[in-house]
Amino acid sequence: MRASPRIVEYELTTLCNFRCIHCYSRAGNKTANELNFNEIKSLMIELREMNVGIFDLIGGEPLLHPRILDILSFGKELGQTLMVNTNGSLATEDMVRKVKKTNPDVLIGVSLDGPDPETNDFIRGRGNFKRAIMGIKNFVKYGFNVTILHVINKKNWWKLEDMIKLAKSLGVNGMYLDRFVPVGRGKLHIADLDIEDGKWSEVVKQILDIVEVYKNEINFYVEESISGGLCPAGITQASIRMDGIVVPCGHFRYNEELYMGNVRKKGFEQIWNSYDPSTLDLFLPKDYKGGCKALYLKDL
Ligand SMILES: C[S@@+](CC[C@H](N)C(=O)[O-])C[C@H]1O[C@@H](n2cnc3c(N)ncnc32)[C@H](O)[C@@H]1O
Ligand code: SF4
Repeated sequence: MRASPRIVEYELTTLCNFRCIHCYSRAGNKTANELNFNEIKSLMIELREMNVGIFDLIGGEPLLHPRILDILSFGKELGQTLMVNTNGSLATEDMVRKVKKTNPDVLIGVSLDGPDPETNDFIRGRGNFKRAIMGIKNFVKYGFNVTILHVINKKNWWKLEDMIKLAKSLGVNGMYLDRFVPVGRGKLHIADLDIEDGKWSEVVKQILDIVEVYKNEINFYVEESISGGLCPAGITQASIRMDGIVVPCGHFRYNEELYMGNVRKKGFEQIWNSYDPSTLDLFLPKDYKGGCKALYLKDL
């Protein structure tokens, strides 16, 4: 039997009130065959029994899901560590109060892709910097553990120091840093967002230098794979699409040959334990040198 995943992401819905240009989920409209509440509960029971570290609710926009509070409440009942990744725009004081009452322990990740409206809104849409800041402030005010989720791209990488200063001024607990991967809607915006391989090694070095300077002032979670480290896909993490399809990483969501199974047909534990992560390596080119595998699978 394999060790259970450290983190399982689950895409509650593809419904979203934003249309971010980098979005790998191509979120916007709801998908017809999304898992229902009973299916979600069965999945959560199974993950808890497997001792999965974090069940990370993503989307689309999780706060638009009609049963989000019931899901958070069920997670609390199970004693499962939950995380919600949100664009922050629907986190009004009233909503945040409800979340607090339902599950005060849920970890909150709010996406912000720049330290100013111009940079963030180029990616996330006009007016959405202000909306995300509102959400972050409300979550902080109600005492949640808040992490800013920041995706580095060609337009924002040189503003990281300002991002960190903003995060500190907002009083969040941490910053998660990942890099743009051209998948889904992001594929249409490669020219604007992608940092070519040659330049990336220079950029990542500068990013890690800045992280080193501020590491005692804020918690950083830097995706190891962005600097050539272990790619966690199918090894310590899995991602479940809104329709139940399990993939080693959300970036492989459109590649049938990389699907691990479907929780509507088999239990997650069976899918996970019968998966051999080295099968993913068969799809990698000979020049793979480590790091995020999605960047090497060109047809995503
Ligand atoms: C798909 S969103 C869903 C949750 C929520 N709507 C949000 O924006 O945080 C989850 C995370 O994936 C990131 N993301 C979306 N497309 C990406 C891409 N092409 N490359 C890297 N990260 C991406 C988002 O910025 C966000 O932090
Ligand atoms: S990244 Fe998040 S907020 Fe933006 S379109 Fe995708 S799901 Fe919506």
